[in-house]
Amino acid sequence: MPKNMTMKRFSFIYISLCLVLVLLVGLPTQAQTKRYDEYDPIADFYNSFWSKPLERLAMGKLNRLLVPKLKPKAKILDLMCGTGHIAAALHAQGYQMTGLDGSAKMLEFAKQNVPSMELWLKDARTFETRQKFDAVICMSDGLNHIMQLKGLTQAFTQVYKALKKGGRFVFDMNWEQRYIKGWNIRGARFEFKNSEGIFTSSYNRNTRQGTLKFWLYSPMDGSKKTWKRTQWELTQHCYTPAQIKQALEKAGFKKITVYEAAQDLDDQRNAGRAYYVCQK
Ligand SMILES: C[S@@+](CC[C@H](N)C(=O)[O-])C[C@H]1O[C@@H](n2cnc3c(N)ncnc32)[C@H](O)[C@@H]1O
Repeated sequence: MPKNMTMKRFSFIYISLCLVLVLLVGLPTQAQTKRYDEYDPIADFYNSFWSKPLERLAMGKLNRLLVPKLKPKAKILDLMCGTGHIAAALHAQGYQMTGLDGSAKMLEFAKQNVPSMELWLKDARTFETRQKFDAVICMSDGLNHIMQLKGLTQAFTQVYKALKKGGRFVFDMNWEQRYIKGWNIRGARFEFKNSEGIFTSSYNRNTRQGTLKFWLYSPMDGSKKTWKRTQWELTQHCYTPAQIKQALEKAGFKKITVYEAAQDLDDQRNAGRAYYVCQK
């Protein structure tokens, strides 16, 4: 066979093998790690309605579980920082804050709320950094938005790597009791700017999936005769306490303390919300 024919055949086989490899390995990995940006459409709503009460709830727990252990000016990463309200409260206490979120729109509000904070538009499952933090926090059931255990373990692993030795990771996650008792809103009405909206929440015990749905009706003109309807959906996964513990241990955490809001923190309204304090 002429030499250039052998070369052509070799190149063809080589390129085909590469393509097969890309299809088998590359594409699924990319699809799994697409940056989470599902809060973009509700960032304005979240900033107006939910940020403040969630900040109060989170700061009550952080001031009890984390702040007493921190040195002044400690470096803290707020993972899934959203609109940055919690970071702003910690910044006001003198801590050096960095915020990470997958939603560019949530980060636009975070920029307004804490102008001096370094912000990273990244996914919690895949972020990498050479910086080391004294603490990482992830509040208001952010981690329940990760729909697969593999992704949750990846996020815990990245957090473990980002911590200094002895550093603490504090987060909360919803356990099943919380979804069963609280995620059954049939239709709550709300007004937002010049629009009106409804939201529902539900929980499926078989799939262990929680779903929030929003419908927003905005007038197309001053007469309010024609309305534009926009709709969004957010989902969460309910992990068992054993799954969460296993994922933390797989990531490297050995010292793990869990506080269930009602039983351990005297917070009946948040029964089923569990606060984790892990140390590297
Ligand atoms: C319920 S909000 C909590 C925001 C903030 N921690 C708070 O307490 O107000 C959840 C946030 O997690 C972010 N998020 C969810 N999954 C993410 C992921 N895989 N990577 C980065 N951000 C994510 C969302 O964009 C959203 O801002």
